[in-house]
Amino acid sequence: MSTEASPESEAVDIPAQMMAWQVSKPGEPVDVMALAEVPVPTPGPGQVLIDVWSAGLNFPDALLARGTYQEKPPLPFTPGIELCGEIVAVGDGVQTTRLGERVMGTPALPHGSLAEFAVADALDVLPAPTGLDDAGASVFHIAYQTGWFGLYRRANLRVGETLLVHAAAGGVGSAAIQLGRAQGAHVIGVVGSADKVPVARKLGAETVIDRSEEDVVEAVKAATKGRGVDVVFDPVGGAAFETSTKVIAFEGRIVVVGFAGGEIAGVATNHALVKNYGVLGLHWGLYRSQRPELVRRANEELSNLVDAGALAPLLTERVAFEDAAAAIARIAAGETTGRIAVNMP
Ligand SMILES: NC(=O)c1ccc[n+]([C@@H]2O[C@H](COP(=O)([O-])OP(=O)(O)OC[C@H]3O[C@@H](n4cnc5c(N)ncnc54)[C@H](OP(=O)(O)O)[C@@H]3O)[C@@H](O)[C@H]2O)c1
Repeated sequence: MSTEASPESEAVDIPAQMMAWQVSKPGEPVDVMALAEVPVPTPGPGQVLIDVWSAGLNFPDALLARGTYQEKPPLPFTPGIELCGEIVAVGDGVQTTRLGERVMGTPALPHGSLAEFAVADALDVLPAPTGLDDAGASVFHIAYQTGWFGLYRRANLRVGETLLVHAAAGGVGSAAIQLGRAQGAHVIGVVGSADKVPVARKLGAETVIDRSEEDVVEAVKAATKGRGVDVVFDPVGGAAFETSTKVIAFEGRIVVVGFAGGEIAGVATNHALVKNYGVLGLHWGLYRSQRPELVRRANEELSNLVDAGALAPLLTERVAFEDAAAAIARIAAGETTGRIAVNMP
């Protein structure tokens, strides 16, 4: 491990111990997450050690605590899948020129971002946009990368098309609205309560449907004069997916992003055939290993869109480090709007 970039630069003083959230058994976040003093991890070959300045909370943090996420780190582990911070040490094979870089990205579990220091694969942390402060950058990477790949690459969203976004005031949903507008699409947002309607509208959705009050199918048909929508961005699944198949237009594309509703809908392939639409899966994490050059390109384009004023993460809360587990529980219950960043101790 190296901590000094050049003879002129100052070596960073890395303590032996740090405070970290730990999950020691599967369960609900507030039951199984606890604060502990643990050794500062050492970056392995190809990895970096990051002084975490801000950690972004995500829906999958709850799934990780429950043990139901696709990735299952060995117990005990530190959760947190997103961060902004500074590279303070590099492992074998990583250039020391990266020391001191302000980065954002995804840490390598079991050494997640809900700790004073985290470990990441060097390829998984990219320059943080200068147009965002540390809290903003800590909630930018995953949501906007997911939106970029889902809308621009998988669905090939085009100027003038109509985009429907489920959970439009949520984490990835709020990013999808802004990315849809940046591409010149008309955006319809679906939200779960009246208080989220103005939020989705402010993000850029021209039509916002409150699913607790309105029939979504009828409302979409009315908003599109019966034509339906060209692209659906669906982080919810279940009933939301069923709705999407009823409002998808000729040659439309439904992007399956997540299952926040807890149910996985089946795809009726005969219906897709008869209506000429496509159902596209999106696993953004896979692009990190399969097409890292595309992830870098997306980061450059997204940073430019931040500079142009087209994108700004919907950061609604900054919570204390001690309140991280309770905040994750509120995200999992669908009670939050936009994104939550955790201030580090
Ligand atoms: N495919 C990928 O690569 C990728 C990347 C990132 C995230 N994801 C997935 O995307 C999903 C959303 O993540 P996020 O961070 O953006 O979360 P989020 O939007 O903050 O929370 C999920 C939202 O879904 C809606 N929802 C509908 N039914 C729900 C239910 N039964 N329980 C809870 N929420 C419900 C709620 O909004 P309304 O009440 O307004 O409808 C809620 O706010 C997650 O499943 C996550 O794993 C996938």
